[in-house]
Order: sequence, then C-alpha cells, then structure tokens
Amino acid sequence: MIRFEHVTKRYADGTTAVDDLSFEVAEGELVTLVGPSGCGKTTTMKMVNRLIEPTSGQIYLDGSDISTVDPVELRRRIGYVIQQVGLFPHKTVLDNTATVPHLLGWQRKKARARAAELLDLVGLDPSVFGDRYPDQLSGGQRQRVGVARALAADPPVLLMDEPFGAVDPVVREHLQNEFLRLQSQVHKTVLFVTHDIEEAVRLGDRIAVYGEGRIEQFDPPTAVLGAPATPYVADFVGADRGLKRLSVTPIEPGDLVQPPIVHLDDPLPDAAARLAVDDPEARWAVVLDDAEHLHGWVSADALAGGGTVRDHSRRMAAWLPVGASLKQAFSTMLQHDAGWIAVLDGEHADHFLGVLTPARLHEALRRSIDADAKGGAREDVELETVSEA
Ligand SMILES: Nc1ncnc2c1ncn2[C@@H]1O[C@H](COP(=O)(O)OP(=O)(O)OP(=O)(O)O)[C@@H](O)[C@H]1O
Ligand SMILES: [Mg+2]
Repeated sequence: MIRFEHVTKRYADGTTAVDDLSFEVAEGELVTLVGPSGCGKTTTMKMVNRLIEPTSGQIYLDGSDISTVDPVELRRRIGYVIQQVGLFPHKTVLDNTATVPHLLGWQRKKARARAAELLDLVGLDPSVFGDRYPDQLSGGQRQRVGVARALAADPPVLLMDEPFGAVDPVVREHLQNEFLRLQSQVHKTVLFVTHDIEEAVRLGDRIAVYGEGRIEQFDPPTAVLGAPATPYVADFVGADRGLKRLSVTPIEPGDLVQPPIVHLDDPLPDAAARLAVDDPEARWAVVLDDAEHLHGWVSADALAGGGTVRDHSRRMAAWLPVGASLKQAFSTMLQHDAGWIAVLDGEHADHFLGVLTPARLHEALRRSIDADAKGGAREDVELETVSEA
C-alpha cells in the first residue's frame, strides 16, 4: 500500500533527515515508527502526503508514484493526525469533524451526518459534544476529534504523528485501546509515529525502529523485544524488555495446566473420588456448572463431608479469555490476589480451557523469547529448566 524505495531527504542546510530509506507497509497494516527526537520520523510521514518532497528516491501509494499525483488529490486519500491536533477554534466539534467532507463538496446535511457517525465511533456522543468548541474539551477529547476528523472522508491511509503525545499516561492508554478497537473496525493502513517504545509495541503490527535517519529494525513487536537486531535497538527497547514483552505475548492453550474438574451438583463423595483418580496430590479442583462454564473452585479439604460441591465451592473472578496477554494475566492475578487464573475460550465466559499458574506464565514468556531468537514456533521450544508449580 505504501512503499519507500531508497528515499533520502536532505534539507537545505545539509542535514540528512532520512537516509536511503526502503520499506513497505501492507494494506490494513498498522506500522509504528519509533525512535529518538530528530531521527527523521516526521520527515518520513510528511513525504507520504507531500508536505515535504524527497531529495531522491520514490514513494508509491497503492502502486502509483506519488510524485506524479496532484498533492491535493493525494491528501484526500490520506488522513493526517498530529499532536497539536489543529482543530479550528471558532468551529464547533461537529463542523471541525465535517471539514474534509465539506471540502470534498458533500452536501451539508450528509457531511454533518457523517461527522456525527465518526464522533460516535471515537467515543464522543455527538449530541453532547457536537456543538461544543475545541476549548470546551479535555486534551484527550480534542485528540479524539482529531482522529474523527482524519477519518471523516474515509481515506484508506492514516498518518498519525504522536497523536497521543500530549495527554497524560492514563488517558493515553485509554486512547490507545480505543484506537485499536477502532482500527479493528476500519482497517486503515496506518503509519503511527511515537517516541514511546511502549506505545509502539502496543499498537504496531510491525515496528520500524529508527536510528539517525535509518531504520535499524522493522519487525513485529515480539521480534523487536525478543531479538533486537542491533545493540542500538537493544538499548532503545531497554533492559526491561522482558516485562514489555508480557503485553504482546498472548496466552495460548498449550500454556495451561489441567487441574481436576468437578461439577456444581456432584455429590461430595463423587467429587472426592474424582480428585483421587485425577490427581491425588491436588489441593483444589475447578468447579464448572452444567453448561461447562466456570463457576469457581473448591478446596480438596472441603470434599470430605456430605452434600454437593455447590455447598462448598467458591466463585472465581480471576479469569481471562485465551489470547489475552500475559501482562493481563499477571495483573489479573495481582488484582485478585490469586495463585492462578482460569482461561476460557471466549470473551463471554465460555468454555473452560485450563488454568494459568505463575510458573506457566514465566515459562510461556521464556518460550516466546527463545522462539523469536531462534526463529521457530513457541510450542517447539524446549526449555532447559522448567519448574512446575
Ligand atoms: N526544515 C528543516 N530544515 C533543516 N533541518 C530540518 C528541517 N526539518 C527537520 N530538520 C531536521 O531533520 C532531522 C529530522 O527531523 P524530524 O522532524 O523528521 O525528526 P523527528 O524524528 O520527527 O523528531 P521528534 O521526535 O523530535 O519529532 C532533525 O535533525 C531536524 O533538526
Ligand atoms: Mg516529529
């Protein structure tokens, strides 16, 4: 969708901002450009919508050399979001959002309807925010209007230059999550600039790590964190990259432990017998209801008397869907002060798949690091020492 071929930008004073850059971004892909201040990220972006012309090399958009495309025509196909947002202060939120459809000559009613739809999509109720002016919004809300405006004409490509740079970390994480949700609906081809490696890792399908005017590594987040291509990249992603990696490593079914399972209406003697067969050492069992949905757990000691499992089982709130990140798993364990979490096969408390223990979490992380370093699949990695919980 976007292709750079040997692109160099030298400014008039001799500064080489971008040096012989070649890369390609696939349709629907979200690529984050990350690197220190002054390494050429903004220059790279502005060459895509021809706010800056390269000194040499070619840039292709959807197969055509953009130097042959009229810049105004080009920019209609490219949404642009910047840190300072650049909303018109004298226009309402709704009119700001409708700017591009207006310029494209849409009828006023259609443009406003589209703007309302977009505001809704970015989480701003148009009936509440539509008639406000930009200075009546919080920083995070302004940023969302900026995203809505960039999407209004439905361009296939979005350029985002530190769009969440000016908001505090909590709001930023919120905006990032919203943006990921939005992207899963709109599937734009996105170039997203940030100097925050955490943000690059969370958002990017792939990350381009910039050194001075050059890309040092262009890989998926797990590879950048797990197998930095150069000492520079290793230094940039930081010594705590194992921790960062937790947030991009999903829980897989193979990571799970299978504890004994009993059902709510099992008589206690039956449940005790089940434990004795499945795992005489087990100190607890998972409790499922008739539909095989997670109910909670029961301690082995509680199975000695009469009655049913229901009388002694406890609810379990610490669960996640498979595919959630190891970081979510870790924080769920901490939040519930739980020694394990249940893993289910869907967002809606569907079937129980198994449990993740701290030892298995650690193991999954090490496997995924090794798999990237060796270029294989995670389940093929043999760990040298594996401690069982
Ligand atoms: N108009 C210009 N004339 C001369 N040099 C420029 C010009 N614009 C940018 N530069 C230089 O080009 C280099 C790259 O700038 P660029 O704005 O692309 O960096 P950046 O990676 O976006 O940095 P930041 O993270 O601070 O936004 C810098 O050294 C900068 O000083
Ligand atoms: Mg910049």
